[in-house]
Amino acid sequence: MAVSITIQPSGRSFMAEPTETLLDSALRHGISFNYNCNNGSCGKCSARLIAGELSEILPHDHVFKEHEKTRQSILLCRAKPRTDLVIEAAEADTPDAIPQQTIDTLVHKIEAVTDDVRIIQLRTPRTQSLQFLAGQHVCLSINGLAPRNKSIASCPCNGMYLQFHVREVPGDAFSEYVFNDLKPREKINVSGPYGDFLLNESSQNPILFVAFDTGMAPIKSLIEHTIALEQNQPIFLYWLMDESGSHYQENYCRSWEDALDNFSYNPIKISYQDHHSVDINRLKQELKNTARAIVSEHDQFQDYDIYINGPAWLFSDMQEVFANSGIAADQIRIDSMKRY
Ligand code: FES
Repeated sequence: MAVSITIQPSGRSFMAEPTETLLDSALRHGISFNYNCNNGSCGKCSARLIAGELSEILPHDHVFKEHEKTRQSILLCRAKPRTDLVIEAAEADTPDAIPQQTIDTLVHKIEAVTDDVRIIQLRTPRTQSLQFLAGQHVCLSINGLAPRNKSIASCPCNGMYLQFHVREVPGDAFSEYVFNDLKPREKINVSGPYGDFLLNESSQNPILFVAFDTGMAPIKSLIEHTIALEQNQPIFLYWLMDESGSHYQENYCRSWEDALDNFSYNPIKISYQDHHSVDINRLKQELKNTARAIVSEHDQFQDYDIYINGPAWLFSDMQEVFANSGIAADQIRIDSMKRY
């Protein structure tokens, strides 16, 4: 039976299964502690047991100093709970609290989800997970190519498998390499994480996510994190895509809608195509109309938190419509990082 874990000094709590380590349970519930190896060797997940009993302490190489032993230090990645616990542990829930990391990963999987979008999954070494916050990005270095910033599409609940979405862009060396040359088990260096496109976890406002094309990647990470936190506010996803493209993870979005009473998925097609040749004024008007339609679908729109990912030039008109609806500036978070 699951037991309750209360964290001091924050007072937050999460439920943990006696068969799971405290670290795995915490990550599954969207709680971020400092950690790295997840196997008891680095000592980074050290915490203090204040009350309750553990069922098991898995073997570990990290050696506690004498004073740490007397204050009941434990490793969150090695300890499993028997009863409700109170622990003292520092939460790493801001970008400043997350250390910069450099990890050599291997390509685990390359998925051709459409003709022109690839989803790649990287696997870190067993002893070195990537610690990051939902919505952040990393720098990928592949085989002599210029390093490329990419948003992480997966959830911090699993720092060993990292997902990225890549669109085919002729003439772009990174994109062409992924589409033509990248092979499973190839080495990719990951450094980071970076960025502050993060969920405002203290807010209970309804949430509206707006993604354009593969800008879905960090939005997906944020949605998975929101779900892990078991927050109950309504969540709306608007995913904009050029009319010639397809919403490449449509089934995944529909499965959120089927599983969650508070989730609504809204795919939208726009006439974007190659933005260098498109009629910009027409496109801007179309985006304004789309934004007005979104606003009109929601009562009390000024109470929403909005997260937008896509090119800044594309979303500036949309953003203006949202801002004019009375929403406060700090309720709109935008990530316009260049990504393909
Ligand atoms: S000892 Fe390294 S994460 Fe727990």
